[in-house]
Amino acid sequence: MSYIASRLSAVKPSASMAASQAARALRAKGVDVIDLGLGEPDFPTPSHIIEAAHVAAKAGQTLYTGAAGTAEVREAVAGKFRRENGLDYTADDVVVANGAKQIIFNALMATLESGDEAILPAPYFVSYPEMVKLLGGRPVLIERPETSGFRLTPELLEKAITPRTKWLFLNMPGNPSGAIYSQSDLRALGAVLARHPQVLVLSDEIYEHILFDGRDFVSFGKACPELRDRTLIVNGVSKSYAMTGWRVGYAAGPAPLTRAMAIIQSQSCTSVCSIAQAATVAALNGPQDEVARFRQAFEARRDLVVDGIRRINGLTLSPPEGAFYAYIGCASLIGRRTPKGVVLEDDTAVANYLLNEGRVASVPGAAYGLSPYFRISTATGKEVLTEAIARINAAVAQVE
Ligand SMILES: Cc1ncc(COP(=O)(O)O)c(C=O)c1O
Repeated sequence: MSYIASRLSAVKPSASMAASQAARALRAKGVDVIDLGLGEPDFPTPSHIIEAAHVAAKAGQTLYTGAAGTAEVREAVAGKFRRENGLDYTADDVVVANGAKQIIFNALMATLESGDEAILPAPYFVSYPEMVKLLGGRPVLIERPETSGFRLTPELLEKAITPRTKWLFLNMPGNPSGAIYSQSDLRALGAVLARHPQVLVLSDEIYEHILFDGRDFVSFGKACPELRDRTLIVNGVSKSYAMTGWRVGYAAGPAPLTRAMAIIQSQSCTSVCSIAQAATVAALNGPQDEVARFRQAFEARRDLVVDGIRRINGLTLSPPEGAFYAYIGCASLIGRRTPKGVVLEDDTAVANYLLNEGRVASVPGAAYGLSPYFRISTATGKEVLTEAIARINAAVAQVE
């Protein structure tokens, strides 16, 4: 008999981490694999942020902090929301956690009763449905095809809402699609939500700075201020400041929710690393030119990948509007045979084929709730991306 709790029975490990692990295992056997599985910037954390961490550690900021975060980091987050998003939150409305992932986990743990529903427009970030299931909720998936720009429409939202709906998840720019929502898109969704007061909104805006073609970012909170009492704005330093390993995410929202999230935090991990919080203050309050430089680099890589993938017969790719992923359509490969005679039944088989024969690690669309696609991360150098595209091209050309 297993001693593992039944709540884990339906929960899958992170697909992107699994793809990277598979790549590492092949590398350990001496195979030269390009890992485009995990999404993390390849840039070093800007040096003034590292310096601030150093100074904080030397100055004795090495103790537990308040569960919701230090006063300084919550002030810095409130300042960021005011300055960059036009949102009027105070430090008391802010909570900090070990990554945006833990913010989301805490928010769900604080609110989900068994059987409560969370609406997830697909394709979605792989962790959303697994966290919902882990905490006793029911993910309600709404497939959003590429032809609709991978965006949720008010009509589909209205249809999906039931008396058990507790959350709507929005993520813009989206992982894996890169899709963003305009102010009017968000207002139209807000008009539906206004009719359903039981629904909370989780707006995951962690890629807000990685936007292309001169687009502007509009926070859900700015577009729909009338829903402020049931909106949680989620963000973090991982993607904008190349700080994935520092593990700092943050959110602002209604006080009963953020207070409950802080209680969970106090009983699970006490607080976020004090030194990482000091680094976050420096990231949010310090110079932002590196953020702009990263954005430019991501746009150049997006252009390279769109151009390269579109030249490959059998693959499709709509130019992502933001974030650092390419969600590549592979419908025309499904049902065809690899040189070894394996039928590519689905996008998981395609990703396996690309890994084992093409030596490129990607994540199958099945993990994101919309098939047949595979996702590659474009958060890596141009030379590596060029080589990866050449390998994908060669592998696809051999499919019969
Ligand atoms: C949409 C989205 N939200 C949240 C996260 C998690 O970010 P963090 O590193 O802050 O936990 C990711 C990471 O891939 C993401 O893609």
